[in-house]
Amino acid sequence: MDKFVIRGGNPLVGTVSVSGAKNSALPCMAAAILTEDEVTLENIPHVRDIETERRLLTSMGAEVELRHPAGSFSSAGPEDRTTISCRTLSDPVARYEIVKTMRATSLVLGPLVARAGVARVAMPGGCAIGARPIDLHIKGLEKMGATITQEHGYIEARADRLRGAHFVFDRIIVTGTEDLLMAAVLAEGETLLENCAREPEVADLASLLTAMGAQIEGAGTATIRVEGVSSLHGARYRINPDRIEAGTLLIAGAITGGDLIVSNCNSAHLGALLEKLREAGVRVEVLGPAAVRVRAAQRLGAADISTEEYPGFPTDMQAQYMALATQAEGVSLVRENIFENRFMHVQELARMGANIKIEGNTATVRGPASLSAAAVMCSDLRASASLVLAALVADGETIIDRVYHMDRGYEHIEEKLRGVGAQIQRLGNLFAPREAEAVTSAE
Ligand code: EPZ
Repeated sequence: MDKFVIRGGNPLVGTVSVSGAKNSALPCMAAAILTEDEVTLENIPHVRDIETERRLLTSMGAEVELRHPAGSFSSAGPEDRTTISCRTLSDPVARYEIVKTMRATSLVLGPLVARAGVARVAMPGGCAIGARPIDLHIKGLEKMGATITQEHGYIEARADRLRGAHFVFDRIIVTGTEDLLMAAVLAEGETLLENCAREPEVADLASLLTAMGAQIEGAGTATIRVEGVSSLHGARYRINPDRIEAGTLLIAGAITGGDLIVSNCNSAHLGALLEKLREAGVRVEVLGPAAVRVRAAQRLGAADISTEEYPGFPTDMQAQYMALATQAEGVSLVRENIFENRFMHVQELARMGANIKIEGNTATVRGPASLSAAAVMCSDLRASASLVLAALVADGETIIDRVYHMDRGYEHIEEKLRGVGAQIQRLGNLFAPREAEAVTSAE
């Protein structure tokens, strides 16, 4: 299993480029199921979750070509694209062996029923950060006329043709909004979805679907209206930059007391985080629509966060912010409202010297704490990022194990950090076959 070795103490200085958004790429790749034509996506990040999605689509009979620029990791040009052709879907089944490693595979449920009239998708099961049910995905598909049965750990959904419906989500859910949006675009008649997720990744998906011929209004707002069409055609589409990678890199610049420009991002998607960094005393400068600069705070002060659906403070930035809070003067309250178990990074940070107490869904962080290098272990994608950030300021050489969790959502992260001054090395080979690796949890 790969490890990172990080020697702390270097301020990060320079410019680092953001890759495409994993959480846009996954629904957009699933959207290719909706047409027999070829769909070409650009700016797809070269990360493990994308490879998992490729394996899933291929297992169903799709042809998927992932092309990434050899070597370079800056945001690549046109050669960085993924082409997907779902001309024939010989086997509309999402098998447990794949689903258990990545929960987002449930995103194929809606498009498979819409395209093939049948879908068999393994129940995703829980993961490190929570139960992660898909009950609301199922409820929405039933409202659209699908017959759903559950047995032997699989969901089977059938419908000759889905019909438009009025569906209000009991709670705001991201891939649930995306799943039902993809089901609605080929349904008979109009679908009205209310209490939708407003994450930018939903709007990214809707832009691709519109390019494929779908008729959608309101994506990115709480209410989405879809007029079903009889078929969709292929398209070429470039997905958004990854706002969570951008936020992670901004915190890397702040926590190391550096002077870092994060480029190829979408600064309009970072509002809640930039506001919080400013409140903590970090000097933040939006250089334009695609670049943000952070410089060390004269004095890094405590500031509370409470995770909310977009445009609130993102749950996917909670662990990374907590690492920064360990260095802030005072007491920071970190409240996690979206997932029931998203504090797996706390014990590992505490082993490095952080002073954090958990009570229910709130972590109390007292700082500044001087962190010392330790052998620590990743438990999930964003917890991994938190440990890397802590190691960048810890005294000594930290060994971080099970970095395959981080490889799920961060493209070439060690090269990017090294490029702006971090002392980070990977032990092991990123893309070596992983027979022995027991993937412990999906996300
Ligand atoms: C998406 O997951 C993201 N993943 C997650 O990013 C992100 O943390 C999450 O949204 C919240 O922003 C992708 O987009 C691939 P939810 P998703 O459904 O859609 C409950 C990362 O780090 N719920 O919005 O699975 C659920 O248990 C990953 O990149 C139901 O109760 O999240 C959770 O508590 C991690 N019933 C809450 O809603 C349902 O049917 C929000 O989950 C569905 C969800």
